[in-house]
Amino acid sequence: MRILIVYTTRYGTTEKAVKLAKKLFEREGHVVEVKNVKENPSPVSYDLVILSAPVYRDGPHWELMDWIEGHREELEEVPKAFFLVAMHLAGSVFMGKLHGGIAYAQPLIEAFEVPPFYGTLIGGEIDVNKLSDEDRRKMKRFYLALGEKLKDKSLYREEDVEAFVRRTLLYYDWFGKHFRRGELEKVKDFDFMEKVREMEEKLDAEG
Ligand SMILES: Cc1cc2nc3c(=O)[nH]c(=O)nc-3n(C[C@H](O)[C@H](O)[C@H](O)COP(=O)(O)O)c2cc1C
Repeated sequence: MRILIVYTTRYGTTEKAVKLAKKLFEREGHVVEVKNVKENPSPVSYDLVILSAPVYRDGPHWELMDWIEGHREELEEVPKAFFLVAMHLAGSVFMGKLHGGIAYAQPLIEAFEVPPFYGTLIGGEIDVNKLSDEDRRKMKRFYLALGEKLKDKSLYREEDVEAFVRRTLLYYDWFGKHFRRGELEKVKDFDFMEKVREMEEKLDAEG
């Protein structure tokens, strides 16, 4: 199928993940185009659109959100999956509210009538010396809020990108391909665990 990966990046980690994802999708026989949101690509005529961005200031980077806003109608017609790159991966409950972790993805779900069929977080990186003065100040505050000190960190793992690609293709096949305007009815009774059991039986039969 034809896949469009749309991304934005500030310090390059998301771009690194996107390049690996492209290679892995291609290895499975798909045709992949990678576009920075700055090129303002059109999502029309693809079978799958991957949205990817780092988390900045508690949400998906605004450049991706702006691109989505500009192409919302076309994006309702095409199945979407996403990954966000972040440091606060596990998330927490803070003063009784969900904070960080997959809760960072809420704006990506709320932006659409037909939401992405799959999405996840992958680990990001901090190279203190590379940060602009302003970003260093913000990150220092971010870590102070977590009771930690700002220092170089890498949570990026290629395995996480591999898992994202594998699951995106699996779920696309199971139900994701119908996550487009006018087709959601087809999967409204989809039973995820039944599908897993079906696979289990197939594997058992193969010995
Ligand atoms: C100014 C700034 C704000 C950030 N805010 C968050 C945040 O709210 N939550 C989080 O988990 N990570 C946050 N990060 C960490 C980035 O998501 C991480 O460094 C990521 O690897 C950046 O990706 P990029 O290299 O593609 O820009 C922030 C980083 C910077 C520089």
